[in-house]
Amino acid sequence: MKAYKVNFQQKGDVNGHLVVAESGKEIPFEVKRIFYIYDTKKDVVRGKHANLNSEFVIINISGSSKIMVSDGVDKEIFCLDKPHEAVYIPKMLWKEMYDFSENSILLVLSNELYDPDEYLRDYDDYCKIIKGE
Ligand code: TYD
Repeated sequence: MKAYKVNFQQKGDVNGHLVVAESGKEIPFEVKRIFYIYDTKKDVVRGKHANLNSEFVIINISGSSKIMVSDGVDKEIFCLDKPHEAVYIPKMLWKEMYDFSENSILLVLSNELYDPDEYLRDYDDYCKIIKGE
């Protein structure tokens, strides 16, 4: 399963915009958790983990940031700079978020409640698990 870009429909008019994201429609799972990342200093790299069970939809609702996603072999970089665009990240992909603009607010939706035990935070361990070692 690969990560992919999600384009939300922009509703609204000249007076302003609104984006709707519903479970089972734009979001390919039942949302159990949301969190957001903001005030991230420049040059900071966040994430640096893979998840055994959690899937994510990540939206840069303000400002911009980049997300690097890897399966241990190939890498893909997503640039997020529009509140109506997102990236879907399935479980067991390595991810790193970086290049945050000063006003960046990164909204994250997930299918799982927080469980620190399902986070793989060591890249070498992650690669071993992926290769079945
Ligand atoms: P962390 O996963 O290290 O953040 P990032 O991947 O953005 O660098 O989490 C930072 C802190 O927040 C850490 O103490 C764990 C806590 N946390 C929760 O309590 N619940 C959550 O859902 C998340 C994502 C983090």
